[in-house]
Amino acid sequence: MSKQLANQHALLTGAGGGIGVAVARAFAMQGARCTLVDIALSPTPDVERLIADFRGAVQYIASDITQTHTINPMVAQAVAAFGPIHTLFNNAAVFDMAPLLESNEAMYDKIFSVNVKGAFFVMQAVLRHMVDASTRGAVINMASQAGRRGEALVSHYCASKAAIVSYTQSAALAMAPHHIRVNGISPGVIDTPMWAHVDSLFAKYEGLPLGEKKKQVGLAVPLGYMGSAQDICGAAVFLASADASYITAQTINVDGGSVMG
Ligand SMILES: NC(=O)c1ccc[n+]([C@@H]2O[C@H](COP(=O)([O-])OP(=O)(O)OC[C@H]3O[C@@H](n4cnc5c(N)ncnc54)[C@H](O)[C@@H]3O)[C@@H](O)[C@H]2O)c1
Repeated sequence: MSKQLANQHALLTGAGGGIGVAVARAFAMQGARCTLVDIALSPTPDVERLIADFRGAVQYIASDITQTHTINPMVAQAVAAFGPIHTLFNNAAVFDMAPLLESNEAMYDKIFSVNVKGAFFVMQAVLRHMVDASTRGAVINMASQAGRRGEALVSHYCASKAAIVSYTQSAALAMAPHHIRVNGISPGVIDTPMWAHVDSLFAKYEGLPLGEKKKQVGLAVPLGYMGSAQDICGAAVFLASADASYITAQTINVDGGSVMG
């Protein structure tokens, strides 16, 4: 069977994280050359393994997406090595939370600078490149079930992910004449390093023992358990592939049934 992403170049941000590295491996297994972008100066062991397993087809670029003046050079570096970009997996994000009346400007700035500003300008830079290169590419923005409904303790993160759903729609409409598709994935609760952090914050604000929130949210999922990073890969490969050629402006829930519609 031919590989779904053969001869393609995918750029992934937040690619050193739980979901990013899993999706990068799935893309590489489907034949894509992958540029992995993350803020860490050197690749994590998981990323190093990927580079070793797909020698010559995976490269790592250390880049902080909040430094918007570095985004165009980062895209240019990726293109110089691996050619025109066909898929952007726009995935880097941070999480923080606090009771609404206690959440301060620093928390707002931290979350919005990565999750919204960084994500938007990475998307814009890659879209410009795709338009200039006449690439009928695909963008996949990482939203969240948190973007579908507010939460008393999680206001800024929820709002940042709602913004991603909205940018996905606007960019899809703007890019439709260029035959570039823009979609989103809205995960539910996925067991990654981000969730260790989320769990410890809920423990602090809800007075729970460590691990309790993770247990509760897993049991509350209709399928009965937290997802794994692997559970995101099928939707990501599908949206990047020609099988999704008539799908744009959608944010697909990959959440075990937690959000409907
Ligand atoms: N884990 C979940 O339950 C869950 C649920 C819904 C949505 N999501 C979303 O999925 C995506 C991936 O989440 P994850 O669980 O793999 O998280 P993660 O924390 O494991 O990975 C996030 C990655 O983003 C990187 N990053 C952070 N700031 C950056 C910056 N300024 N520049 C470049 N890279 C930066 C981090 O270094 C990290 O490697 C995120 O957009 C997240 O909001 C996750």
